[in-house]
Amino acid sequence: MRSSAACLVVSLWISCLLGSTYAATFSSLHRTLILTASPKAGQVLKAGEDNITLTWSLNTTFASGIDSTYKSVTVKLCYAPISQKDRGWRKTVDELAKDKTCQHKILTKPYTSSNNTFTWSVRRDVPGATYFVRAYALDSAAKEVAFGQTTDSHKTTNLFEVEAVTGRHVSLDIASVCFSAFSIVSLLGFFFMEKRKAKSSK
Ligand SMILES: *[C@@H]1O[C@H](CO)[C@@H](O)[C@H](O)[C@H]1NC(C)=O
Ligand SMILES: *[C@@H]1O[C@H](CO)[C@@H](O)[C@H](O)[C@H]1NC(C)=O
Repeated sequence: MRSSAACLVVSLWISCLLGSTYAATFSSLHRTLILTASPKAGQVLKAGEDNITLTWSLNTTFASGIDSTYKSVTVKLCYAPISQKDRGWRKTVDELAKDKTCQHKILTKPYTSSNNTFTWSVRRDVPGATYFVRAYALDSAAKEVAFGQTTDSHKTTNLFEVEAVTGRHVSLDIASVCFSAFSIVSLLGFFFMEKRKAKSSK
């Protein structure tokens, strides 16, 4: 009886330990990275055409050595709250393994504390939405240990928009199909009118 209780306590303790070791939560991360992206607040970028220039570095107001476990940096495009509303598949969850805020990976690079810059062309498959950019510092086990982002903690400042490829091209395609159909019909119309004229004048 007593040994099974002890066993339970030990196994609970172990699972707590494992849980706290492996389930990284966003709220536990320090914002030690300074990240900036080129789009201005409210700017509209075209997917498949426009570029984003990113720069990131360690915020040196933190004690030196805070980045000793940082092995790599991964930068992602993240949905702003306005584009998450009523969309469960973009929901923010504190446990990072389940978080759906940042679904579009931009890059992963080995960590260096300064002089990082990268230009990314917005991929054609990025859906039209309002975004910000976030960077995670990862340790040697690829677990998130710190972050930086282009917006404030409430995700209200420096947001920008991406205009999707499909919406734009589909409407263009429809317009051009209509236009070609119209030109063919009118050409045929003129052709037959001319033929009839020629016949009747004989
Ligand atoms: C984006 O970058 C690509 C490749 O560097 C370049 O060809 C293109 O002109 C750039 N687009 C804009 C809108 O600046
Ligand atoms: C660097 O970190 C300090 C402390 O968290 C913060 O007050 C400051 O705004 C940060 N600097 C930048 C440029 O983000």
